[in-house]
Amino acid sequence: MKNILVTGGAGFIGSAFLRHMVAAYPEYNIICYDKLTYAGNVDNLLPVSDEENYRFERGDIADRRAVQRALEHYAIDTIVNFAAESHVDRSIIEPDAFIHTDVVGAYILLDEGRKHGIERFCQVSTDEVYGDIEVGFSVEDDRFLPNSPYAASKAGGELMARAYHVTYGMDIVITRGSNTYGPYQYPEKLVPLFTTEAMDDRPLPLYGDGKQIRDWLYVDDHARGVDCILHFGKTGEAYNLAGENQRHNIDVTRRILELLGKPASLIRHVPDREGHDRRYAMTAEKARALGWQRQYDFEDGLAATVGWYQENEWWWRKIKTGEYLEYYKRQYTERLASIR
Ligand code: NAD
Ligand code: TYD
Repeated sequence: MKNILVTGGAGFIGSAFLRHMVAAYPEYNIICYDKLTYAGNVDNLLPVSDEENYRFERGDIADRRAVQRALEHYAIDTIVNFAAESHVDRSIIEPDAFIHTDVVGAYILLDEGRKHGIERFCQVSTDEVYGDIEVGFSVEDDRFLPNSPYAASKAGGELMARAYHVTYGMDIVITRGSNTYGPYQYPEKLVPLFTTEAMDDRPLPLYGDGKQIRDWLYVDDHARGVDCILHFGKTGEAYNLAGENQRHNIDVTRRILELLGKPASLIRHVPDREGHDRRYAMTAEKARALGWQRQYDFEDGLAATVGWYQENEWWWRKIKTGEYLEYYKRQYTERLASIR
């Protein structure tokens, strides 16, 4: 492993992985390949932008020519694919981009990777491929029952990775992370949306009864998990990266408000997300056996995260303009109006 292409490296988790890898492995050349969609942000990479073992290349993973050029130019031997459309609510409004990137893009990366003799391919996937888990915990061999266009497109991408391993003998590993939170997360997801909205004393649109359960994983733990699986995962295998920190959405929301010293009256129970999964839960046994262990519990991770958004308004205030406001209007204006 020498020249690593990190696709989607300007996003939330990809940039945490990049910042970690650039510092931890000076002997690797690490190239960020990112289309810079609304979710991609070069500010996330400022901490590494002057490092010698880091490069940035703008490109689409579904653009075969551009992928070929990057693989050849940097003599890539390893690919870690974070690139994705990642927000469930957007996938409900408009699934097209999800098929383009999460399915077709993953396929093109795999296909060009194979043709260029890539030695290791890590596909970053999600617990959402298992679907709604009423009781118990998902293990890696459980069947897939994705319920949103996002989850289905991620399932498609990772099944293609599996097929490239079985059919062509390509060396692939897959990670399935749980709900991730932390600094530099685009403020459309629960934790950064509610933190930044509450800072401005705006209403927090909690879907349905707020009793849905997510398993929360701090972003640096997720990044270290991908590093562990990339280096030590058995070829052809998938590994759950579970936070093992299950919380109801309403409790996460209340805790954010407490940390900010804001009143619970900001919470609004708005009409539910369509097809909303009630609960995700996985065990992390298999990844633990390889030496991965999460370091943050939810209390510490959430306090660090909320503190980061308080201290880094420069980062998120400029995002909350233009495209963001259009999306916010589409997603929330009617929902919030319907309960007044
Ligand atoms: P994100 O939306 O913050 O970032 C996605 C990045 O991919 C952005 O930088 C974007 O510009 C880039 N991108 C999108 N389409 C592209 C394309 N066609 N070509 C090249 N780059 C493209 O997402 P994230 O939250 O950092 O998630 C990263 C990965 O982790 C995704 O694959 C996601 O499915 C997975 N994941 C996320 C979570 C979570 O809770 N956020 C949990 C488990 C797994
Ligand atoms: P989200 O951060 O979108 O992650 P995911 O859908 O991938 O789990 O949402 C986390 C949970 O919070 C999910 O159950 C939906 C809920 N949620 C709300 O109640 N209101 C919101 O405005 C958002 C964005 C999410």
